[in-house]
Amino acid sequence: MKVDFKIVEYRSSAYTDVLALQEAILREPVGLKFTPEEVADDKDYLHIGGYINEELCCATALVPEGDNVRMIRVATAPAFQNRGIGTLLLKYCEGLVKERGFTMITLNARERAVPFYQRSGYSIEGEMFMKLEIPHLKMFKKIV
Ligand SMILES: CC(C)(COP(=O)(O)OP(=O)(O)OC[C@H]1O[C@@H](n2cnc3c(N)ncnc32)[C@H](O)[C@@H]1OP(=O)(O)O)[C@@H](O)C(=O)NCCC(=O)NCCS
Repeated sequence: MKVDFKIVEYRSSAYTDVLALQEAILREPVGLKFTPEEVADDKDYLHIGGYINEELCCATALVPEGDNVRMIRVATAPAFQNRGIGTLLLKYCEGLVKERGFTMITLNARERAVPFYQRSGYSIEGEMFMKLEIPHLKMFKKIV
């Protein structure tokens, strides 16, 4: 599967598409929208889109936090799920993070997605916690 990954410029039309995809997959199913607080700092994040034949199929955002990067809003469009695209997205982000000198990726994984991250080498840290009424676990991967 050939997926082209791009860094998407804040407030570009591609950024609008990325945010819409993430909202449709991560918020609308639980009856929510992104809050202004959630997107307020987006100018400081790296926004990533994955494209197949120019069509946006997956996205995430990377939040720099010192030597670490927190990965947020990981989403693959339903029509493209379970084809390995999410795994390619993780790989792309790990390469980018390494290139920029960060040493660790952290994330809050929905419990259902934990095996997805574990298969790519992410480890659980700490206890389960609730966010948006969904069980989550903190996960991390050292980037070497
Ligand atoms: C989790 C997600 C990003 C994986 O993307 P993907 O492109 O389907 O990933 P891959 O094809 O590389 O891997 C598929 C694995 O993802 C997991 N997965 C599939 N659908 C899922 C879903 N709706 N929610 C959580 N995990 C899911 C499964 O573990 C699947 O593995 P399996 O072979 O054991 O069934 C994607 O399913 C998704 O967007 N889910 C809804 C949003 C979400 O939960 N995001 C993660 C927030 S932490």
